[in-house]
Amino acid sequence: MEEKFITNSAGETCQLAKEILKKYKNHHIFLLEGELGSGKTTFVQGIAKELGISGKIQSPTFVLEKRYNIKHKIYNQLIHIDLYRLKTSDWTVRDLAEIFSNKDSLVIVEWSDRLGKYKPNKYLNIAFKYIDKNLRKIKINTSG
Ligand SMILES: Nc1ncnc2c1ncn2[C@@H]1O[C@H](COP(=O)(O)OP(=O)(O)O)[C@@H](O)[C@H]1O
Ligand SMILES: [Mg+2]
Repeated sequence: MEEKFITNSAGETCQLAKEILKKYKNHHIFLLEGELGSGKTTFVQGIAKELGISGKIQSPTFVLEKRYNIKHKIYNQLIHIDLYRLKTSDWTVRDLAEIFSNKDSLVIVEWSDRLGKYKPNKYLNIAFKYIDKNLRKIKINTSG
């Protein structure tokens, strides 16, 4: 199935993130794609706020992943991964399998197209498109 949204501000994207988190409780892996500045990290910030993580989430630039322990009905951890600077040697299949198999973690991956063949079977795909300064198209697909 597919859903399409337009947001008119970073705040609206954060609000949408909240709603997506509530609606797709049966998915614990969100794969985000879209060019630089399209709103992926902003979306993660909306999720983080909803999960009670205080302070600003920044993309893990020098490390590929950041983990946040949380108190939440479903999840005990948010794992935020950003593959922008991925070099193929950085990840092993085992690393990814370990991360994706952890059902108590909400795993969100920016630049997930770089996962290539290491995509998990079941995930929520969220595609961001920059339209104008404050305008973004956000398309959601379920897989698996
Ligand atoms: N509708 C919108 N949704 C998300 N971000 C927006 C929107 N309008 C403006 N912005 C701004 O665009 C930038 C998006 O950056 P970021 O979320 O870091 O993108 P990415 O992680 O995809 O590179 C932020 O500065 C944000 O404030
Ligand atoms: Mg980002």
